[in-house]
Amino acid sequence: RMRNKQVQHVVAAIAVLISLLMLYSVFKGWSTRVPASSFTSQQTSQQQQLQHPKQTGDAAAAKTKPAAAAANATAAAAHAGDVLPPFTPSPLGQPYYVYPTARTNTSVSVTIVIVVTVGTKMEAFATALNSVKCYGALHGYSVSVEFDNKFKECAVHKDKFFRRHCHTHKLMKTEIKEGDWALFIDGDVGVVNPKRLIEEYLEDGYEIYLFDRFYNWEYAALSYLVKNNERGRGWVEEFTSFEFKLPNSFHGTDNGALHPFLMQYLVPENRDPKTRSRVASLCLSLWERSDG
Ligand SMILES: *[C@@H]1O[C@H](CO)[C@@H](O)[C@H](O)[C@H]1NC(C)=O
Ligand SMILES: *[C@@H]1O[C@H](CO)[C@@H](O)[C@H](O)[C@H]1NC(C)=O
Repeated sequence: RMRNKQVQHVVAAIAVLISLLMLYSVFKGWSTRVPASSFTSQQTSQQQQLQHPKQTGDAAAAKTKPAAAAANATAAAAHAGDVLPPFTPSPLGQPYYVYPTARTNTSVSVTIVIVVTVGTKMEAFATALNSVKCYGALHGYSVSVEFDNKFKECAVHKDKFFRRHCHTHKLMKTEIKEGDWALFIDGDVGVVNPKRLIEEYLEDGYEIYLFDRFYNWEYAALSYLVKNNERGRGWVEEFTSFEFKLPNSFHGTDNGALHPFLMQYLVPENRDPKTRSRVASLCLSLWERSDG
């Protein structure tokens, strides 16, 4: 018992020592002086960078200044005798500014479709939605943001994820012009680079576009670009009704269903259990048995 007490005391003493050391290092961090002059010079050059450079010469001049000021800051700190490690800011760490210009060729018409579950608090989506609306306004893409109870026929979809695809299909049938494009995206998808145009992704002969998630190469149901013709609408409609084929498993709703759906859409023999390939049967049976 006595020994235990001593051990406890030693442990407590070490804990106090460590806390004091941490406090000391934090305090030292606060008190490290960086010459005020270097801050002001860096700020001025960043402000210069904020102004939209009109000529290439200006742009180059504005770009070189922060680097010079940063080098100055390091040099000045070294002169002042402060302990600052040599520091060169990475170009990735610098703020960047994008100045998009409206597309000049507007021959491709796209409606960006966002379907929101009734009752969703839109504030949570404001950043993403604003970026999409701004992007649409700049380039002349229509942006349709609506609640998922607009089309009464879609109420048969009890899974809210599939209800959105039903909504998209009805919108294509009733509001989007034949031959135009529909870009379905989730409400939390924002525009990062407004200089890229949707039509840059179009290729001759392709009317349905999906993307791979870069980290596991699965498809994602959170975005697709389809032509508003029979084929494009048919694809959305068939995917929508896949809700009624969901197994009683951890199926992953539309994101999971997209894979067996494509397996059957792209290889029609896989629709019929009699002609289905062995690997397709195996994949389906795994999906049907998967357990979260
Ligand atoms: C760098 O510092 C020197 C003085 O040490 C100053 O004359 C010069 O203008 C500074 N350069 C920049 C880019 O801030
Ligand atoms: C505009 O874009 C369409 C579709 O990409 C193309 O066929 C057409 O040639 C373009 N027009 C001009 C003037 O570049």
